[in-house]
Amino acid sequence: MIRFCGIDLAHPIVNASGTFDAIAARRAFGDALLDAFPFAAFVSKTVTLAPRQGNPPPRLWELGAGMINSIGLPNKGLEGYLREDLPQLAELPVPLIVNVMGSTREDVARLVAAFAERDEVAALELNVSCPNVRTGLVMGADPRELAALLDHVRPHAGPKPLIVKLTPNCASPAEVAAAAEQHGADAVSLINTLRGMAMHPDRAGEPWLGGGTGGVSGPAVRAIALAQVREVRERVALPIVGMGGVQSGRHAHDLRRSGADLVGVGTESFREPLAGRRIADELSSLEEGFPANAARDAEVVPL
Ligand SMILES: Cc1cc2nc3c(=O)[nH]c(=O)nc-3n(C[C@H](O)[C@H](O)[C@H](O)COP(=O)(O)O)c2cc1C
Repeated sequence: MIRFCGIDLAHPIVNASGTFDAIAARRAFGDALLDAFPFAAFVSKTVTLAPRQGNPPPRLWELGAGMINSIGLPNKGLEGYLREDLPQLAELPVPLIVNVMGSTREDVARLVAAFAERDEVAALELNVSCPNVRTGLVMGADPRELAALLDHVRPHAGPKPLIVKLTPNCASPAEVAAAAEQHGADAVSLINTLRGMAMHPDRAGEPWLGGGTGGVSGPAVRAIALAQVREVRERVALPIVGMGGVQSGRHAHDLRRSGADLVGVGTESFREPLAGRRIADELSSLEEGFPANAARDAEVVPL
């Protein structure tokens, strides 16, 4: 058992937002999925106020060590999610963390308020990799922008824990994490995908992905995740959900030793849908009893 923001979890492995469709997985595996759910908590894909179509295809480019996606956050929007997805996700045997994103502070506050009043929701994760349409700044790339967002949004979350999902596409994720800590975040999660692109094989000068650029994930980003989690751990005392390229218990253990409390599994679930369960088992043989704050206990030595 491990405690994260006041929530009891069976182990430290969760899914990374947008990489495990629990509703589709239940169709594929039946109720057996619920008997041995791969993750200790389920993190939803990003929900926005209005429905989104996502980016035009192609949306994926496979790399030697991971992939670039330009999915563009397609989703049913708040109303569709509350009506169709939330009742199904509430049947999962683990706590539900809902990930939300908006392009104004008011939009984010409305999303947070809507989920804060739902008993089915254990915690909220803010995807702050989106530009604020008014200031033009990516909310999670600038410490002052994030501080203003949290000042506006935090009161709407009530007692629900608020996790800020940091973007690696900024000058200093640690500075942003410090702002999150000072302005009411209960935890931070990192890393989101790193901006990347692939060229069209036939059309000179044109990108392959419909969105132009996309987000790099998988083993290619693991070393970056380790370094950023470590940097953030040196800066803040908040619980950290670390992710990026985790494929094994050893990788999860390394992230925990670099500063993460929980570890998210993302791209690996596309290769192996039940990878989370295997990784949790492997981690349990490396960490007897899953010490709650492995990195804090292990004393992170400043670089
Ligand atoms: C196909 C795909 C979809 C994703 N969708 C979301 C999303 O909806 N919201 C979000 O915050 N992160 C999203 N992410 C980012 C992941 O949650 C994670 O931060 C990132 O992929 C790094 O972990 P990984 O290397 O284990 O995949 C997505 C990643 C991928 C590959």
